[in-house]
This record gives sequence, C-alpha cells and structure tokens, in this order.
Amino acid sequence: MIYNMDCIEGSKRFIADESVDLVVTDPPYNLGFGGTTQTRTKKPRFNIIANDKLSRSDYQRFTFQWLYQAYRILKPGRHIYVCIDWRMYPFMVLWMRRVGFVVKNCIVWDKMRMGVGWQYRFQHEFIIFAVKGESNARKIRTRSAPDIWRIPKVPGNKTVHPTEKPADLMENIIKNSSSEGELVVDFFLGSGPVAEAVILNNRELLGFEIDPVHYETTKNRILGLEERGL
Ligand SMILES: C[S@@+](CC[C@H](N)C(=O)[O-])C[C@H]1O[C@@H](n2cnc3c(N)ncnc32)[C@H](O)[C@@H]1O
Repeated sequence: MIYNMDCIEGSKRFIADESVDLVVTDPPYNLGFGGTTQTRTKKPRFNIIANDKLSRSDYQRFTFQWLYQAYRILKPGRHIYVCIDWRMYPFMVLWMRRVGFVVKNCIVWDKMRMGVGWQYRFQHEFIIFAVKGESNARKIRTRSAPDIWRIPKVPGNKTVHPTEKPADLMENIIKNSSSEGELVVDFFLGSGPVAEAVILNNRELLGFEIDPVHYETTKNRILGLEERGL
C-alpha cells in the first residue's frame, strides 16, 4: 500500500498507534540536493527534492513531526533506521532522542565508489539505528552483523532519483529487523528501494511519497515486480 501524499498527514490518517514492526526511511537531508551534474549542459538531472531546502527551524519542525509519527506507530521494542549524512547526523540523533527513541548505533554505508566533493570526495553515509523503548524486541539478527556495510551505490548515469539508495542496502535492514509477514513503513519512498526489498522478502509495505513523479517511479517498480511474479 503506497500513497502519493505527505507522510505526516498520511500516517495520522492511515496508521494506528503501535501497529508497525519496522520503520525504514531516507528523509530529505535539507541540503538542497538535485542530484549530481551528469548532463552535457552541466545542469543537475533532477529537481530539488521536496522539503530539502527549508529554513533551519522549518526543517526541525518538519523532522519532529514525522519522527513523532514514527514513534507513535512503531510497536515497543521495535526498530527504526534513518538514513542521513555527516552534516545532519548530530541534529537527527538529538531529535530522535527527543521524541523518545533510544539510539543504539550508527551504521556506516560504504558506497564503494567516490561521489561528489573536493575536500575529500564523499563515499559514505550514515544510517541511524534506534529502538522504541529500552527493551530490544526478540529475535533480530543485529547481534551477528557488523556496523559497516559495503554495498555499491547505484551508478550516477543509472539513477532515476537524485538520492537513490540501492535495494540491497534496504534488504539488509529488512532481513535483520523484521520477519516475514510483518509491516514495514517508509515515510519517504523516493524511487522505491525499500518497497522493492519489502516485497522481495515477503513483508507488508506501507509508504508515502509526496512527489507525483517519484511516486509513479515507485508504483511502476512495484508493478514490475508483480508482473515478474516476485
Ligand atoms: C532522500 S529522498 C528518498 C530517496 C529514496 N531512498 C530512493 O532511494 O529513491 C526523500 C524523498 O522524500 C520525498 N518527500 C519529501 N517530503 C515528503 C513528505 N512530507 N511526505 C512524503 N514524501 C516526502 C521526496 O520527494 C523524496 O523523494
């Protein structure tokens, strides 16, 4: 189930308290990012992501609102993963703690290829790993997994979204922190890597994407998987 709408409104409307087994999400980092320059005209290939160029206070308010919804819908003892980069990491950790999450670790995603940047080129991002409440839910394979993940990023000329994450990255999270049939929520679907990983691993998906173009990309990705019988 995916919705082309604002995740804050959508979660209030469609998701009951403490009904979700896992939240995996990649929010706007507020960096005004429209993708790297891959064209002959040297113009970015994509428009700036929605809610990625807000004032500091508006970004904080927006983040608190969706984090509060994430906290409300998650079952006690279950996990949330939030993608972020080094620039916004200190704020995101602080805000996650303020809404009540217990931050347990910071996974480093090594993209295995350099990206943009000139005072050392970017090759990693962070994924904040946190729990709702102190008691960690049963099972979960996090005990045997390291906190550095080497997973190739999607090559720039193959991306369909300015901040596209590989489905393999999301698959790691989904396998480690949920079981078959459980409900996974993604507040910021983008091009749909979480959706793909959820479907391929027989979990249930509920997700939101505010931009109609990216929503269509995710929808078509899901339809493509269904057509292939996956
Ligand atoms: C960082 S991107 C996610 C990229 C995604 N992980 C991927 O690999 O394609 C954040 C996405 O959130 C969407 N977005 C921004 N504000 C939103 C909101 N209030 N509700 C739902 N989606 C929103 C943007 O349009 C953007 O596609």
